[in-house]
Formats: sequence, structure tokens, C-alpha cells
Amino acid sequence: MAEKKVRFAVVGVGGLGQAHIQGILKNSDVAELACVCDNVPDLARKFGEGHKVPYYVDFYEMLKAGGFDCVVLVTPDQIHREHAVAACEAGYHVLCEKPLAQSIEDCRLMAEAAEKSGKKFMTGQVCRKAPGFIKAKQLVDAGEIGELFFVESEYAHDYQFLKPLWRKDPVNLRYSVIGGGCHAIDLLRWIAGDPTSVMALANRKVLTDWPVDDCTIAIMQFPNNVVGKIFCGIGVKRNYTMRTCLYGTKGTIICDNQSPEITIYRHAVTDNGKHMYPDQKIPVDINHHNVGAEIRDMALAIINDTPLECDVYQGANTVAVGIAAVESAAKGGMPVPPPYIRG
Ligand SMILES: NC(=O)c1ccc[n+]([C@@H]2O[C@H](COP(=O)([O-])OP(=O)(O)OC[C@H]3O[C@@H](n4cnc5c(N)ncnc54)[C@H](O)[C@@H]3O)[C@@H](O)[C@H]2O)c1
Repeated sequence: MAEKKVRFAVVGVGGLGQAHIQGILKNSDVAELACVCDNVPDLARKFGEGHKVPYYVDFYEMLKAGGFDCVVLVTPDQIHREHAVAACEAGYHVLCEKPLAQSIEDCRLMAEAAEKSGKKFMTGQVCRKAPGFIKAKQLVDAGEIGELFFVESEYAHDYQFLKPLWRKDPVNLRYSVIGGGCHAIDLLRWIAGDPTSVMALANRKVLTDWPVDDCTIAIMQFPNNVVGKIFCGIGVKRNYTMRTCLYGTKGTIICDNQSPEITIYRHAVTDNGKHMYPDQKIPVDINHHNVGAEIRDMALAIINDTPLECDVYQGANTVAVGIAAVESAAKGGMPVPPPYIRG
């Protein structure tokens, strides 16, 4: 049992914010819900009264009132930067949902504000908490499939029937390969390192009334001569998946965040001398939005003053790869180096 509980203020209780509240409640040994904020008054009241905590409609009023240690930003991507910088300047720890922002300039401002505050800043790249992906990374790191030579991941979703309209804002654009594709990008960065070059092609044939491309393919050069590819589709006519394939010199792993198992293929010779690659199934929990694990990591990092694995720079550099993909696609597939900011 920790000596102190971290008090969380959840901002944005529309969709994923409710999962963050549950994540806080599940970690009651280290975390507690201090207040909620949503600029839709009925929502703010519903969750404030429901959890018997103060509630706010105005973010800045909440900052002024205080009574918490960490701000959790689960608001539209386009306002992350403004609220994150303000929370840092007011001296709070910040857990910001992915993607940090849509531009590297905004990411840099967030990193600078976090550095200046001396507080913790976590980016919520939740694929790093999905049990299947954690297991796959452990197998790769342990050398179970030899050396990687090709990694690929996809973010296949259908946004056609999603209600919140900020994703299709025609003025403050939310590029799909940054907003959703950041999951696949971040997963590959986590496993294979930072790509040095990105070549992308994109089109828009399904969500034709959207202001951004709905399909992007980006191929990338990773360190150690590993090549990689992400597919980000937000008009995909199938159920959501993040199918991911990791190819190594001694084996192959296929996994996603929707299956109760991951598959690893490795060489074997049968009794009659036949070369085979039998599939070994490894059971894993399905927990594709494991925000409770993020809350726990954040609370423990604050209590113990330890570094965060997915900090503001990790979030920024995942955005940098997405930006390179958008720019490359606009130039017909020309290679673009991601505009990384370094920690
Ligand atoms: N990790 C993941 O897999 C994952 C999944 C879904 C969403 N997200 C991210 O979480 C964030 C929220 O997404 P969502 O799907 O929950 O969106 P949502 O629209 O369902 O919820 C956002 C909430 O923020 C509120 N809000 C908007 N402006 C505000 C303001 N100025 N002050 C206070 N509240 C405000 C809205 O009223 C709404 O209730 C986004 O950044 C999104 O990219 C991440």
C-alpha cells in the first residue's frame, strides 16, 4: 500500500474519459478521483455528482480551484496543447491522451512546459499497455525470433458512424495518420526504434466528405536495417483491429489487440525430415484500452519520483513520424525524415 494517493482531475468525460475514471477507481491503493471537468455542463454534472467529486465546466476555473495533483486530458486532440501547457504552468503533473498534438511546434511547447514545471508528463500511448503487444515485445527483446528485418502494424477502424465531430473538423484538421495511426507508429517505434525516413501514399475513397485522407500507407527505414510499414485506415469495412506482424531471422510473431492469443512461428524439423514452422499460440488477455495500467504507472512515478517510460518526448516523436507521413503523402511518396525533438 502506497503512503500517498495521487489525486487525479479528469478533463473530458465524453468517451475515453470515462475509462480513465474507471482506471482511477480500479487503482484505489495509489489513485483517487479528485474532480472532473467537461465543457458540456450536463456531462460534468453527471460524472461529478455520480462520483461525489467537484465538477467544472471551465478548465481554467478547475486549475484555479486546485485540490488535485495530476490533470488527465481526454479532450479533442486539437486542444491538448493549450490545456497541457496551462496545467504544466500551474504546477501540475499531466497525463495527456495520444496524440499529443497535430504539429511538432505544439509538441515542442508541451515538452518545454513539462521540463520547466519539473513535474511528470505522460503520453497515453495505450498500445504499450495491451497484454498481447507487451508479450510480443518481450519475445522480440529476448531474441526469440532472432533479429528483426521487417515490422508492420495496422490501425484499421471505421469512423463513419463515430459521433464526436471534432475528428472531422474542417479548420483545425485532425490527420488520421497522426490521430489514429499514431497507435501503429508508436507500437513500431517501441519495438524497433525511431525510423529515419518515411515514404507514404494516401487516398480518400470512403469518407469522401471528410477533410483528411482516410487511408495512408507509410513505409519506413528503422535502425539496424529493419524496414517497416504501417497502414492507417479510418473507413475500413471490418471490425477494429491492430493486426501486427513482426518478422525476424529465426521466427515470426503475429498479434493484435483484439485476440486472446498471439502466434509465434519458429523452425522445426518433423520426424520424417520435413522443415516446418508450427504455430505456437500464447494466451493473452484482451485489454486494448488498458488505461488503468497508465493511471497506475503515472501514480507510482509521481509517488516514487521515478521516470516514465512513455513521457512527453515519446509522444512528440510518435507525432513526428505521423507528420513525416502526412508530408510525404502530400509529395507523392517522397522520403521525409521525421522532425524529432529529443529529450
Ligand atoms: N488511447 C486510445 O486508444 C484512445 C481512444 C479514443 C480516444 N482517444 C483520445 O482521447 C481523447 C478524447 O477522445 P474521445 O473519443 O473520448 O472524445 P469525446 O468527444 O468522446 O470526448 C471528449 C470530451 O471532451 C469534452 N471537451 C471538449 N472541449 C472541452 C474543453 N474545452 N474543456 C473541457 N472539456 C472539453 C467534450 O465535451 C467531450 O465530452 C482524444 O485525444 C482521442 O484521440 C484515445
